[in-house]
Amino acid sequence: MESLSEFFQKITANREPSNLYTPIDYTMSQGGKRLRPRLVLMSTELFGGNTELAMYPAAAFEMLHNFTLIHDDIMDNAPIRRGKPTVYQQWNSNIAILSGDALAAIALQIMLNTPTRPEIALELSKLLAQTSVEVCEGQQKDLDFETADAVNIDEYLQMIHLKTAVMLAGCLKAGAIISDTSRHNQETIYRLGVHIGLAFQLKDDLLDVYGDPSSFGKKIGGDIRENKKTYLYLRALEEATPTLRTELLHYFSSTQFDDTEKFNAVKNIYEKLSIREKTAAAIDEYARLAYEDLEQLQEVSENKIPDFKNLIVELSQRNK
Ligand code: IPE
Ligand code: IPE
Ligand code: MG
Ligand code: MG
Ligand code: MG
Repeated sequence: MESLSEFFQKITANREPSNLYTPIDYTMSQGGKRLRPRLVLMSTELFGGNTELAMYPAAAFEMLHNFTLIHDDIMDNAPIRRGKPTVYQQWNSNIAILSGDALAAIALQIMLNTPTRPEIALELSKLLAQTSVEVCEGQQKDLDFETADAVNIDEYLQMIHLKTAVMLAGCLKAGAIISDTSRHNQETIYRLGVHIGLAFQLKDDLLDVYGDPSSFGKKIGGDIRENKKTYLYLRALEEATPTLRTELLHYFSSTQFDDTEKFNAVKNIYEKLSIREKTAAAIDEYARLAYEDLEQLQEVSENKIPDFKNLIVELSQRNK
């Protein structure tokens, strides 16, 4: 079986205009964790499906993911990803918009071309399209929240469900669809993906404050600078004394503060309220729910269950 990287290289090799395809190649060859294709393949193995066929949805979802990152970095003013300049920094925003658009369309082409029964390719493609729409909805909420006064944790959870969790859930469901498993299993593995996804985004929020830039690959403190309503911020508001609350609201009312001063002040408030520990506990809770989902699956390859258990632990303890 050709590797995922070879798959991606073939898509952009010798295509022009080079200002469209070079940024795509730049992004796709960086790798990253490749979590989404891994989920598609793990799910396919769990349900006894054909992993050669699963390469198509695996590649399609990874391309869709990379499209969302290229555009996300414009929206979040992020300078670094995977330890390298972001596409809009390396080239410009117009190039980042277009190469992202093309990636999304190529992802759908790959999905439609999955060499399987037409109704399965169609179902996979519908799943990809549905996921794309939901990610856009989540990303718009994320932006709206930057300037909204009152956002509660439930609204935050809905937002990250859309921007992050549905993609991980969609990958797991794709493996279930390609393996032609029962409706019950499709729904259960999707729910498991949502729980992993919520934990994944909470961890991402945590690493944005407490991560090590050399392993995380992104600039630390971007969420605080951009007034992102992260789990950490919302939880801090919930737990804060009136004085700390006023201070936190003050820092999140503008993007004009000195970055370092703001970051240290907000981190200090988080420290006083044990926000790091409380976020870690919330991550553990979603990991526990994902474990429960795993137990609801029926007639799966039992020898693949430990892989999922390890993955859940790995993702909740990740530092990149
Ligand atoms: C980043 O995703 C975007 C989020 C949903 C937090 P990843 O952390 O999976 O990014 P890569 O692909 O490994 O770089
Ligand atoms: C990720 O949210 C959501 C998507 C990219 C769809 P973030 O904005 O937190 O992701 P990072 O931290 O930039 O990777
Ligand atoms: Mg973002
Ligand atoms: Mg971002
Ligand atoms: Mg983030």
